Amino acid sequence: MLRRPRGFFSMPTPEHVILHELLAHEPNWVSGSELGKKLGVSRVAVWLHMKKLREAGFVFAAQRARGYRLLARPSRPHLSLIDAQLKVRPRGFSLVVVDEVDSTNDEAARQLAAGRATPFAVVARRQTAGRGRLGRAWHSEANGNLYVSVAFRPRVAPERMGAFTLWMGLNLCELLANFAKVTPGLKWPNDLLLDGRKVGGILTEARVDADQIRDLVFGLGLNINSVAEAWPGSLGRSAVSLAEVSGAPLDFNRLVAALLGRVLLAYENFADGTYTKTFADLWHRFDVLRGKRITLLEGGRRHTGTVAGLDDEGALLLRDAPGRTARFHAGEVTIEKSAS
Ligand code: BTN
Repeated sequence: MLRRPRGFFSMPTPEHVILHELLAHEPNWVSGSELGKKLGVSRVAVWLHMKKLREAGFVFAAQRARGYRLLARPSRPHLSLIDAQLKVRPRGFSLVVVDEVDSTNDEAARQLAAGRATPFAVVARRQTAGRGRLGRAWHSEANGNLYVSVAFRPRVAPERMGAFTLWMGLNLCELLANFAKVTPGLKWPNDLLLDGRKVGGILTEARVDADQIRDLVFGLGLNINSVAEAWPGSLGRSAVSLAEVSGAPLDFNRLVAALLGRVLLAYENFADGTYTKTFADLWHRFDVLRGKRITLLEGGRRHTGTVAGLDDEGALLLRDAPGRTARFHAGEVTIEKSAS
């Protein structure tokens, strides 16, 4: 049977309707009776919902004659606040927001196995067993960063997974550039960089039937509001958050809504093939490896050469010293210090 974790959103809740109204009228007032009318409840019942929202971290101005006005939003993941700000909503989309989970990718896989309709997204404030690529752990404290997985059932061949991850990474770069006014880059195949440090990582996992992908989980860890001093060990030098670079904390739930909207749209473009129209432009804009001398570690073997581009499947083309070009579908890339 389909398990509904706490936080599953299906019908708009009263809190969702109230937030939607307040956000739509921001910075103006919305009267209690107007909210009551929308919900079909009394002003007293509205007041009780406002109390619940206050407990979740919202701050409102309230005046008897004018109603309510939104002054501050919670910085932790909030289901109705994300949902009320979603501008893209494919048919059947559902959202799960949990405080803690082992891994959002694993939760998404469990939900897929239980038959949940796609697309859906799982957002967590904290992961107890967050996973990165190549069997690594992904540091997943409740520190203002995002842990999210979006699940799909695409009808595409497994060979297209590489291009899918790159396409998603490029879309995220453009979204972050616009949203946070930063200059991100994509380091093949799945690292989002900011100022040469890692601001995010993608872990795409698929279950494959014969020659088709059965279902696919797109997992993203994005450092949004963490502070450098709080990272353990060497992470403080290799990782960075959007807030550190942009100089101020970001509106977490607004960013998550924008990001989910972009991921859902990018998926549609990938599934219907229209992504090919803009892939190359975005790649030229955000690829950080172009023409660089790199070392690529793949299955315990080191390959050194100059990056010569991508093939149609998203494999990296590497030219060695004698001028031979090899293709790599996976690997860990280090940019050489002497690179031009
Ligand atoms: C990497 O760069 O190695 C990929 C990191 C991916 C981390 C995210 S956090 C949300 C989702 N759940 C996981 O367990 N991993 C991904």
